[in-house]
Amino acid sequence: MFEVKDIPVSDSKRDFYASLAQQLSGLLAGEPDAIANAANMSALIYQFLPDLNWAGFYFMRGSELVLGPFQGKTACVRIAVGRGVCGAAVERKEPIVVPDVHAFPGHIACDSASRSELVVPLTKDGKVLGVLDLDSPSPNRFDEEDRQGCEMLVEIYLNASDLTL
Ligand code: SME
Repeated sequence: MFEVKDIPVSDSKRDFYASLAQQLSGLLAGEPDAIANAANMSALIYQFLPDLNWAGFYFMRGSELVLGPFQGKTACVRIAVGRGVCGAAVERKEPIVVPDVHAFPGHIACDSASRSELVVPLTKDGKVLGVLDLDSPSPNRFDEEDRQGCEMLVEIYLNASDLTL
């Protein structure tokens, strides 16, 4: 099995995400199972990204999102497209950075400690297959560099995994 190494402390988020991407590529190499890869990716992100209280996946099942592998407290299982931050990201087909979840209309509070959120859709051939969802207990935790970094991680996941769920 691929051995995850510590990621060097860096002042640059770009460098940090580049190291995380390298680890993720190694972790998922040669494994096409979408659930196993989502489980390991959630664990990797939760281990190395500071200041998170939830990291995980929802997958499209029919017309709604259904909870996938994650790290953190138990979460709501089904989210309709258009509802909450996750459902909004599916509808818009684009990542959403929410600096203050209390100010996002319809935000779904799975863990009342969550204060900010980043959701990146899993998009293949123009179709949204699910989302990667990160929550933080700190307001304004995620910025554009986090969005770009997590989009890169999602690309690695999508390229490695057979997502015909
Ligand atoms: N906050 C999300 C729901 C999922 S939990 O954060 C794990 C939302 O508003 O869609």
